[in-house]
Amino acid sequence: MAVDREKLKALLKWYRQEIEEDLVAAIIVNREGLIMDAVSGTTGKSVEEDVVGGLSSLVEPVLNRITKEFSSGSFGTGTFDTDEYRLIFCEAGEHAVFVTVLDALAMIDPVFPVAYLTAEKIARIFDGRPVSPVIPKIITSRESGEIEKSVDKLRKIKAKADEYAFKLILGGDGGVGKTSMVHRFVENSFQQDYKATIGTSIMKKECNFEGLESSVRFVIWDLAGQTQFRRIRKSYLANAEAGILVFDVTRHKTYENIQNWYEEIKEVTPKISLLLVGNKIDLEDQREVNREEGEALAEEIEVSYVETSAKTGENIDDAFRMLALEMIKRFFTAEEV
Ligand code: GTP
Repeated sequence: MAVDREKLKALLKWYRQEIEEDLVAAIIVNREGLIMDAVSGTTGKSVEEDVVGGLSSLVEPVLNRITKEFSSGSFGTGTFDTDEYRLIFCEAGEHAVFVTVLDALAMIDPVFPVAYLTAEKIARIFDGRPVSPVIPKIITSRESGEIEKSVDKLRKIKAKADEYAFKLILGGDGGVGKTSMVHRFVENSFQQDYKATIGTSIMKKECNFEGLESSVRFVIWDLAGQTQFRRIRKSYLANAEAGILVFDVTRHKTYENIQNWYEEIKEVTPKISLLLVGNKIDLEDQREVNREEGEALAEEIEVSYVETSAKTGENIDDAFRMLALEMIKRFFTAEEV
């Protein structure tokens, strides 16, 4: 089956935009070691033939070692450091490997979730499954540890446990689409009629991360956004480990209120990992908040930003997976192989 090259290109472009200054190159290699596509970190253009040659000589010896690993099962996700560069390898399905070349001084930790998510998207493109080439705006907390540089060693990135479970809560004004997002994520369904949520419903959903040999179970607590429920919000927020702040891109007021939601949540659970979501992007002509505003707010409160549509399902899975990766990032280890 023919691979959608245009989509691969679009994906690499998004990826480059996300990693920016630390990126030397991002390369998609097939299992035979051939470069399928690559983007240079400085110019953002597809790399020229001669540069591909240079990259091949950098990446090839490491790939050979990884390929040996592949033949005895799966390699998953790993790193390799040289004096000049730091490489991240992510298995992208059966057919490809996604290689990120970073500057020698770059940190692996913040890049890793994005690289992993991108590799998953590449796998989908190779399989001909539907996928959006959009990469969420990632802003990582500085709390996590960092995988230290270790020159000339091939290392596997793993989660410390096979399974994690986190309580996830949602914040945001009434009608922004919190319940619809959760339903979309949990059952892949969308309910058209509006029923203001009363009380709390609890749903569970597992995300599997193959390359990390781990899974995350979200226990999702969904509560009404109406202010009259403020009394019970404290117990709703208690012990939450993850949260999604949602606003409606067609109502500016809901965007302005995010700051209040943020403060209220942080007051009850200061250690929570949060993600900011601008929902209802299918209503493009009714937009009152643009992407730049969303990203600026995310930067201010130091969380990642994703734009979604619970109606079409666009980026819903990515939003939850991104949050899951952010959470287990704290529990990664890199083992020598
Ligand atoms: P509360 O329970 O009041 O807090 O609301 P909520 O944030 O849970 O919103 P809900 O999921 O109930 O959605 C509110 C309305 O917006 C419903 O009519 C949904 O069908 C609609 N809606 C939700 N997401 C989207 C979306 O992405 N696009 C469009 N066009 N409509 C949406």
